[in-house]
Amino acid sequence: MNNNFNIGVFDSGVGGTTVLKEIINALPNENILYYGDNGNAPYGERTLEDIQRLCLKIMEFFKVNNCKAVVIACNTATAASLEIINEKYNIPVIGVINPGAKSAIKASKSRNIGVLSTPFTAKSNAYANAIKKLDDSITVYQEGCSELCPMIENSWETYENREEILKNHISTFPETVDTVVLGCTHYPIIREDIAKLFTKTIVDPAKETAIELQKTLEKLNLLNSSTEKGKIDFFVSGEIEKFKKVAEKFLGFKIDNIYQVDK
Ligand code: DGL
Repeated sequence: MNNNFNIGVFDSGVGGTTVLKEIINALPNENILYYGDNGNAPYGERTLEDIQRLCLKIMEFFKVNNCKAVVIACNTATAASLEIINEKYNIPVIGVINPGAKSAIKASKSRNIGVLSTPFTAKSNAYANAIKKLDDSITVYQEGCSELCPMIENSWETYENREEILKNHISTFPETVDTVVLGCTHYPIIREDIAKLFTKTIVDPAKETAIELQKTLEKLNLLNSSTEKGKIDFFVSGEIEKFKKVAEKFLGFKIDNIYQVDK
């Protein structure tokens, strides 16, 4: 494996850019291929088989495009496919759920954690299982939010009922919950609005995921040896302009290298 190969990062759309941002901060010299499968979003209401099929297609894309490691920057895809991807591929693959679970356990004093996620992630129990594996004295409340991902893909601020929708989901958590995990990588994009309604601790798994990636690359001697800033290429299976609008605003830089891929 060549150290100067790429890191593949993927999500069902623009949400994974919240993880990408932390990866760029932690590992600025790495070359990254970001795959946003917005032509097939949302993943959160698809079946397990369907999500796995889409994830394996993206893994093949990364394989032919020289990736030395992959970050599944999507909770739904991590819940559905991390295991099957690890069985099929020989490169390190990092998901977002374990890092999110670890960060939440560190943050919660009341031992009551809420998780906002897609319906698929909530139904899969992936967060409850990951948290309980590390500390089974914790109670986990999982809330599936079907509306949020499509609204964020289509520019959140254009929806007048956005506060009401958020309120309905957040109010399902009991008072004892002192920590809420943003268990969908799209949600850090609307973190400010969530923080207006949930005023205790909010956990975003992105930073811990980037740290885990860094440690894994270090351990395997796979860090890029270049001293120059890495190149970031974007591949999008749906509307490029829609993706760019939300991604550029969140990332804070212009996206030039962006290419259309089949959905
Ligand atoms: N960003 C995603 C996640 O973390 C997926 C959202 C979706 O496609 O439903 O779960």
